[in-house]
This record gives sequence, C-alpha cells and structure tokens, in this order.
Amino acid sequence: KFTPRVFSGIQPSGGLTLGNYLGAMKRFVEMQGPEFETIYCMVDLHAITVWQDPAALTRNTRELCAGFIAAGIDPEQSILFNQSQVPEHAQLAWIFNCVARMGWMQRMTQWKDKAGKNQQNASLGLFAYPSLMAADILLYHATHVPVGEDQKQHLELTRDIAIKFNNDYGVDFFPVTEPVIEGAATRVMSLRDGTKKMSKSDPSDMSRINMTDDADTIALKIRKARTDPDPLPETLEGLEDRPEARNLVNIYAALADLTPEQVIAEHAGQMFGTFKPSLADLAVAKLSPISTEMARLMDDPAEIDRILARGAERAREISVPVLRRTYEIVGM
Ligand code: ADP
Ligand code: NA
Repeated sequence: KFTPRVFSGIQPSGGLTLGNYLGAMKRFVEMQGPEFETIYCMVDLHAITVWQDPAALTRNTRELCAGFIAAGIDPEQSILFNQSQVPEHAQLAWIFNCVARMGWMQRMTQWKDKAGKNQQNASLGLFAYPSLMAADILLYHATHVPVGEDQKQHLELTRDIAIKFNNDYGVDFFPVTEPVIEGAATRVMSLRDGTKKMSKSDPSDMSRINMTDDADTIALKIRKARTDPDPLPETLEGLEDRPEARNLVNIYAALADLTPEQVIAEHAGQMFGTFKPSLADLAVAKLSPISTEMARLMDDPAEIDRILARGAERAREISVPVLRRTYEIVGM
C-alpha cells in the first residue's frame, strides 16, 4: 500500500564527521536508485534544540547541503531540502506531541545524555525532539529510514507514534517504518575514547575526523588515535575487548567497502604503527575528493540556496496533502 520511500536527515549543528558520512550519508547514496524514492533533509529545527549561533547555522546548513551533493546525492534524483522551509514538519510534530506520552519521551537515552544532570534547564524542544523526528519521517509516509545505531530508539518511538495514531483514530494512515541500520560503521566511535560515539558536538576536535579536514590533519588524528600495544589479531573475535582497535578496523572496512572480517584477514598480525598509515591513506583517498567538491560548491552559496528552495517545493508536493489528510482524520 505504501510506496517504497526512504527518508533521513542530518543536523546542520556543525561540520560533518566521518561518523555521519559512514553511518548515514554514504548509506543514503547507496539507497539512491530505482528501488526507492529518496528524500534527504537538513534538520535545522532539530539543531536548534540546543543553542546554535545564527550565522553559523546558516553556514552549516549550506555546507551540509554541499556535503550531501559532494558525497553523491543527486538533487534531481533525490529530494534534498531544509526542514524549516517545509512548515508541515512543525505542524505534524504538534499533532504527534498530542499522541506521544510523556513517559515515552522520558525513556529516550539521547534526551538523558544531552540534557545531562540539569534537565530543568534543557529546552522543551530537546525533550520533544523524537516527536519532530517521527513527523519528519511520517510526513512522507517513508517506509525505510537509514540511520546510525544511535537513532534506533527514536525509530522505535516513531513506530509507536504511528501505531497509536492509527489506533486512536481507527485508520491505517501512517506506515510502520523500517529502520535500516546496516554496514560496518553503524556506530563510529570517538578516536580518543572507545566508549563514546564520534560526534560533531564533542568538544575535542581530535576525537573526530571532519569531512573538511585536510590530508595532514586526517593523518595526524589517526596517528594519535587511542589504541593498545598489541598487533591486530588473526580473527575478529580477538577484537572483542579492544574497542579502539575494533573501531579502526570498522572504519577501514566501511571506507574500503569490505567486511571487518576481510580487513582482519588482510592485516592480521600488523602493528598499529603499520595499520594506521594505511588507514590514513585510505581515508584521505576517499574523503579528499568529497571535501574538494564541497569547497567548490560553497563558492556559490546562491546556487545552494536555489537547490534547497527547489527541494522544499518538491517536498511540499508530498507533505501538504499528507498534513491536510491528517487534519481531516483528527477532525480539524
Ligand atoms: P551528530 O550526532 O554528529 O550530531 P546527527 O544527530 O545529525 O549527528 O546524525 C545524523 C546521522 O548520522 C544519524 O543517522 C546518525 O545516526 C548518524 N551518526 C551520527 N554519528 C554517528 C557515528 N558516530 N557513527 C555512525 N553514525 C552516526
Ligand atoms: Na545524533
């Protein structure tokens, strides 16, 4: 009954990281094709759930759009747009705020992590974030949502909201969405701390590789990445208690389009003094064409704005009728 349709988003809350690229953007590119309609969004309404400097938000939104295109998203084939330019996202989120329960939101680990100890001082928007995310997805009746591991719980909540809405109103209107969490890099970890995910919001720049880092910076960050003194094992099981080593193997695998098993088979017995330079070369080879293209696109911000405006128009061809029908179902 529902058209196979992919939706996903990335926050323009800072520069893109290798985690965003491998866990999300590279997967978005792979899903572009005849099998799915693909819709990708810069989620600026999500970004402002924590403070964003206005000028930086504008620049980061354009840079993220350049990143999508440089990584291989074709703005003709996919719908590529900015969330705040499609008002139906915020409108549907309000309906979902009235469907979702307080207790559901309170259980979200991202809320607990991001709000920290002082929940009373976190924005109301940060608390309601998953309800807006459900609106992003369900506004397009998306059936498949490629994301990193950290978004799994939010996608379960999206399913709960769709199911409760359909039950409450006795309709079969919103699809129950499938999360697509696949590949070797569903959770790229910090280079400084194997227990934390790599994130654009980590205060330490050495913890992450940014898509805009130059070759020397990438090599330096990989050289300084925390590891242990042992060589790479013969099999993947040998990495079970070595999260930092496992992380570098996963990154290598995702960049090279190999499985972690294949990477171990190729590099078994190597010391990190040898493996890290190979990884750095691979990362530079894969990322530098993207960052060069991003810089070229950023030279023409007016063209980026035109692409986003056109993307928003195309998004609204879908979102306006879905919101109108939702209002009818609710009795408005
Ligand atoms: P960030 O956490 O860097 O601010 P977003 O919240 O904008 O990133 O997430 C955008 C997408 O990137 C999501 O699908 C998320 O799961 C994915 N993602 C973010 N960080 C990582 C990571 N370290 N490893 C894998 N995927 C990630
Ligand atoms: Na995230």
